[in-house]
Amino acid sequence: GLAMTRVEPDVHVLGPDRFAASAATRIAQMMAESIQTRGSCRLALSGGNTPAPVYRALGGRDELDWSAVDVFWSDERLVPRDDPASNFRLATESLLQLVQPRQVVPMPVDLEPGEAASDYERALGAEPLDIVLLGMGTDGHTASLFPGSEALDDRDARVAATRAPVPPHARLTLTLRTLNEARTVVFLVAGAAKAARVADVLAPTFGAPDVRDARLPAALVRPASGRCLWLLDAAAGSRLPRKEPA
Ligand code: 6PG
Repeated sequence: GLAMTRVEPDVHVLGPDRFAASAATRIAQMMAESIQTRGSCRLALSGGNTPAPVYRALGGRDELDWSAVDVFWSDERLVPRDDPASNFRLATESLLQLVQPRQVVPMPVDLEPGEAASDYERALGAEPLDIVLLGMGTDGHTASLFPGSEALDDRDARVAATRAPVPPHARLTLTLRTLNEARTVVFLVAGAAKAARVADVLAPTFGAPDVRDARLPAALVRPASGRCLWLLDAAAGSRLPRKEPA
C-alpha cells in the first residue's frame, strides 16, 4: 500500500471571517515551536489565490524571529519572477517584503526544467522541511501534482519538473516523497467551490473506506511521521460529514 503508517489529518474549520488571521496565528505558532526546538524553521510556501491574505497576516506577526527561517517553495510556475503567475512574486508581494528571513530559496525558473528540478533538489538538501504550506485545486491537485501526473509515481526525486493541464503549463513541484517527509504539512483551503473535493479527500478521516489513488493527489499527502493539518474556511468545510462521537 501507499501508506504504511496512517496518521489522520487534523481538520479545523476556522471561524467566519477569520480564515486568514486564524491560519496565520496557527502557522506562526508552529514556526515558533520549530525555532524553539530545532533553532530554525524550514518553511515552504505555495501559490494560488488562497495564501495571499494568510501571508500578509503572517508578515504582520512581529513576534516571529524570521532570522531563523529559511523560505522554500512547494511549487513554481516556470515564468519570469516578475510575471503575475509567479509564486515567487506572490510571496514577495504578500510576505517577503514585510520580513527578513535568514534565507530565501526560490525555485529556479531560467534553467531547462529537468536541470531546474535537480538544482532545487540540491538547494533543498536532505533535511526535512519543518512546515509545508499547500493549497488544493477543485480537481484535487496540490502543489503542482495534478491528477494522473507521472510526477506522482516519482518515489526517489525530491523535486520534479511537470506540466499542468492549466496555464502556465511548465512547473516545478516538490514530490510526494518530500511532502510526506515533512514535519508538518498545512493545507489552506477556502471557498465553496472546494467544498465537495475537500469532503472527498477527507472522507477516510470521517470513516469512509480509504481508497487513494492518482486521481486525488491531495489525498496522497500524508506525512509518514509528521503532522497534517487542514485549515478550512466555513465554505470549504461545509460538506464535511459531522464527526460521529467515538
Ligand atoms: C500553484 C499552487 C496550487 C494551488 C492550488 C489552489 O502554484 O498553483 O501551489 O497547488 O495551491 O491551485 O489554488 P487557489 O488557492 O488559487 O485555489
